[in-house]
Amino acid sequence: MKLLEAGILGVGSALPPKIITNFDLENIIDTSDEWIRTRTGISERRVVEEGVYTSDLATQAALSAIDAAGTCAEEIDLIIVATVTPDTFMPSTACFVQAKLGAKNAMAFDMSAGCTGFVYALSVGSAYVRMGTCKRVLVIGAEVLSKFLDWQDRTTCVLFGDGAGAVVLGPVEQPGFLNFTLGADGSMADLLVIPGGGSRLPASAQTIADRQHYIKMCGNETFKFAVRVMGEVTQQALEAAGCSKDDLDFLVPHQANLRIIESARKRFNLPEDRVVINIDRYGNMSSASIPVALDEAITSGRLQRGDLVALVGFGAGLTWGAAIVRY
Ligand code: COA
Repeated sequence: MKLLEAGILGVGSALPPKIITNFDLENIIDTSDEWIRTRTGISERRVVEEGVYTSDLATQAALSAIDAAGTCAEEIDLIIVATVTPDTFMPSTACFVQAKLGAKNAMAFDMSAGCTGFVYALSVGSAYVRMGTCKRVLVIGAEVLSKFLDWQDRTTCVLFGDGAGAVVLGPVEQPGFLNFTLGADGSMADLLVIPGGGSRLPASAQTIADRQHYIKMCGNETFKFAVRVMGEVTQQALEAAGCSKDDLDFLVPHQANLRIIESARKRFNLPEDRVVINIDRYGNMSSASIPVALDEAITSGRLQRGDLVALVGFGAGLTWGAAIVRY
């Protein structure tokens, strides 16, 4: 079977308007703007208002990606939503998005790969295009993390924010995806976890009293893992794509901590303006961080057609992944 080439036809994003600054957080927990900024690079984050769901942000991002791709909802034949904060466990958020878009010809499912979710979903979506099974694939990273944060736990609640980013994929002449390098190590699953609400620890009065339905993270171990894996997976993906670090026009990394991003930037000897950063304004948006950063770089005119881009993620699972993309 001859494979087609797949590429990115359009990109979009959606951020809720409500901003919570570090100074706002000083009023509710024992923290400081100085601690958060120097340890993480975050100054503020967005959070949804009551009644706004993950599927709402996902739909808004999807509409702008569909517009940028010059297509319409009826033409979409697959919707993949990468998320760790779905509207409901059942059905998938992708089905809510399908209904909201009126994308009646699309099949729809979610993917859960922590903060690497968007890169994983991109690899699956591009495979559908390359096989000729689908012509227009919507890949969305969307999160409402604010509903899964323990706002009494200063070690986690300062780190995350809400948002969504989306791309439309389709067949193209020149290869758009040069390599995907993906991995996982489930032996580190408990480093970053929402313990309650699944089959392992079903919801009960006790799980609620014990605050088991919120994100728990071992920050230090996750940090060390992230620094190591981000450099390694980017290097492996570049080599597998037949490229060197000097060919790279932009690094679009997952935005978990500015210090993690800086260590990768230095390893690849990239000037600051070649690394796309939005953690200062949005915090860590899990699956949404990479597509939102990609959209901002394109919309601002920094990232242009033909540029070679590395999209690199890591997160709960633990999982990791890099995509080498010719935009
Ligand atoms: N404000 C003030 N102090 C805080 C704080 C906050 N929001 N959060 C933690 N602290 C305190 C701790 O209680 C600790 O105090 P102690 O020494 O008295 O016990 C101290 O700051 C240092 O905590 P530590 O966890 O060692 O800080 P750190 O330098 O490792 O930074 C993170 C913490 C979470 C910012 C950092 O570990 C990190 O970014 N980890 C990776 C996150 C990540 O990649 N997640 C993956 C998501 S995909």
